[in-house]
Amino acid sequence: MNPDLSLLQPYPFERMRSLFNGVVPSSSHRPIQMHIGEPKHPTPELLLKAVRDSTAGLASYPATSGSENLRSAIRDWLVLRHDLANIDPTNEILPVNGSREALFAIAQVVIRRSAKPPPIVVCPNPFYQIYEGAAILAGAVPYFVNMTAANNFAGDYEAVPETIWQATQLLYVCSPANPTGRITTSKQWETLFRLSDKYDFVIASDECYSELYFDGNDPPLGALAAARSFGRHNFERLIVFSSLSKRSNVPGMRSGFVAGDKRILKDFLLYRTYHGSAMSPTFQTASAVAWRDESHVSLNRHQYSEKFARVVPLLREALPVSIPDASFYLWIKTPIEDTEFARELYRRYNLTVLPGSFLGRTHGGENPGAGYIRMALVATLDECEEAARRFAEFAKSL
Ligand SMILES: Cc1ncc(COP(=O)(O)O)c(C=O)c1O
Repeated sequence: MNPDLSLLQPYPFERMRSLFNGVVPSSSHRPIQMHIGEPKHPTPELLLKAVRDSTAGLASYPATSGSENLRSAIRDWLVLRHDLANIDPTNEILPVNGSREALFAIAQVVIRRSAKPPPIVVCPNPFYQIYEGAAILAGAVPYFVNMTAANNFAGDYEAVPETIWQATQLLYVCSPANPTGRITTSKQWETLFRLSDKYDFVIASDECYSELYFDGNDPPLGALAAARSFGRHNFERLIVFSSLSKRSNVPGMRSGFVAGDKRILKDFLLYRTYHGSAMSPTFQTASAVAWRDESHVSLNRHQYSEKFARVVPLLREALPVSIPDASFYLWIKTPIEDTEFARELYRRYNLTVLPGSFLGRTHGGENPGAGYIRMALVATLDECEEAARRFAEFAKSL
């Protein structure tokens, strides 16, 4: 067996199962789950119909590069949403089966295992665990940049030692971030592009929450648009990852895309051809419909905004809570240890939230997820409100 498999960490939800093992939740409260970031709003009828209407696609093998229809729908969306006129749908865009598999696969494409010193992959901390597993299975070593309240959850990339940058081959950015909801600013992108030029590493920008924002007139800046604003017209060493899962409430469709530097995408396509990761033609057709419609997305955004508007004031009766820049997460500082907080909340109120320490690693003597919990506002509005009441009652009792 591949010995690197033993280096993989248990997934946060597995650790939560162990944490809750033997705990009997309150039977006077019906269960409410807010630990998983799985979208729960109904899939729009437009997309259900598009799937039903395209079942003929099941009869043929798909091309890994995707259909022209899908790639041009994604191009049109990138122009509309990120003002990326002239982006090339043939060479600068590639459909993928959700961003997760692509975030994993990109490390297998980019990393030169034989490098001396051994390759490093820089990851935010706390973070989406796929980045770490991707690095390890590509033969690299993850290096963590702590996202803390002290650095406004933006990380201090200038403080990363030069020896680390010299060995870095890939850097993951998550914007809007899971779990903090923080959006990477233009100034930060400028820093990251400068470092990428100087030390010759690839930037993978995970933007799967980019459409879940609050101010309809001020959508989050994407990395490709940031690159263009600095005159990087070929998106040098940059690739972004986007997804329909959260935007369109179709996590089961497994549909997303990557876009950016065509030299990277050429190698990525080669890798994917061997890996056999082409998207079903049925879902390619339905995905094109999804990327071409914004009305269902703005309705989706509105539903999340309403939840934040109702939930946050209730939570603030008990604890200081900040509204994130974007995403559907609340990242809340706990008055006691995060694991104990989550376990007791489950026991006394049958409400599940994720301990932040499970999303982080100890780096520089600190796990920046410790002392926080992540709450995903994915349940119905009524359930979210009920959860907020229970949460506040529990926090007040501590
Ligand atoms: C930060 C982040 N990136 C990527 C993904 C993967 O999403 P999908 O594969 O559905 O596009 C998730 C899923 O929860 C996530 O939280």
